[in-house]
Amino acid sequence: MQQDKKNSPLNVIILAVVLCVVCSLVVSTAAVGLKSLQDKNVALDRKANLLQVTGFEDLGTSADINELFGQRFEIEIIDLETGEPAVAKAMAALNEVGKKMKNEEETLVKYDQVWASKSKKDSVSDQLSKDEDTIQIKYREKFSHVYIMKSESGKVEKYVFPVRGYGLWSMMKGYLAVEPDLQTIAGLTFYDQAETPGLGGEIKSVKFKAQWPGKQIYGAKGDVRVQVVKSAPDDQYSIDALTGATITSNGVSKMMKYWLGDQGFGPYIKLKKQSQPEAANTTMVTTGEKTNG
Ligand SMILES: Cc1cc2nc3c(=O)[nH]c(=O)nc-3n(C[C@H](O)[C@H](O)[C@H](O)COP(=O)(O)O)c2cc1C
Repeated sequence: MQQDKKNSPLNVIILAVVLCVVCSLVVSTAAVGLKSLQDKNVALDRKANLLQVTGFEDLGTSADINELFGQRFEIEIIDLETGEPAVAKAMAALNEVGKKMKNEEETLVKYDQVWASKSKKDSVSDQLSKDEDTIQIKYREKFSHVYIMKSESGKVEKYVFPVRGYGLWSMMKGYLAVEPDLQTIAGLTFYDQAETPGLGGEIKSVKFKAQWPGKQIYGAKGDVRVQVVKSAPDDQYSIDALTGATITSNGVSKMMKYWLGDQGFGPYIKLKKQSQPEAANTTMVTTGEKTNG
């Protein structure tokens, strides 16, 4: 009789509800408690990727990565439309949309441009027309990070641009490293993508990545010439597409055209080439009218 009471439907339901509440409490507490650790790991992973794409190997412990990154990298925030430094402007825009930034230093480190684009808020993003949106982002952030890797003596050795674009299944996010001439690619790496392993996922392979260093970005007329194509010609602009993954490969090609063109880092690159003697005698990038619609 006592046993029957214990197994009554009401008791089973109460037990199930209590279990659900306890489990959800445990999961949400763990998620909140681990958030800062997760953020730290994401930041560390980004730094490791930035170091690797600029040629650093055997990175060591997390302390080593943080130290090396701090010594050799400068972070900038630029206005994508003009190419000019814009950390103060970005900070004001972020504060306007409720992302409170205490100062410029915090803004440099914490600004999340993918968030800005997804927020669809006027202060921090511009809507792209269908024709402009070749990489499927819908809204482009107004401000972007640029990472500058310097030698121990402080000479610019690489520029690194955050790039992204849609493949077959996922938004592929990576870093493109460029030599100080702002014409020669130094490397490309992806830190976040979900293409099929063995097919599109091969964008992370050593073989695919090895094709990038030395490729030229702009043609004589300032047009973005670097491309990913099937049966690539043996020239200074072309990267061989991945076998059985043409859609992912096309995504990477479009990403290059977008981010190195007028909608992306074109204006910044043009300004740098004007102001830097080492880049002055390479091809100029032509920037067009404002085309955000
Ligand atoms: C299960 C599955 C996963 C696939 N994953 C990818 C992928 O990650 N990237 C890609 O471009 N194509 C992928 N494809 C193939 C595409 O559907 C398409 O056939 C291919 O991009 C065409 O490339 P090809 O012209 O080199 O054959 C996948 C196909 C299947 C059946």
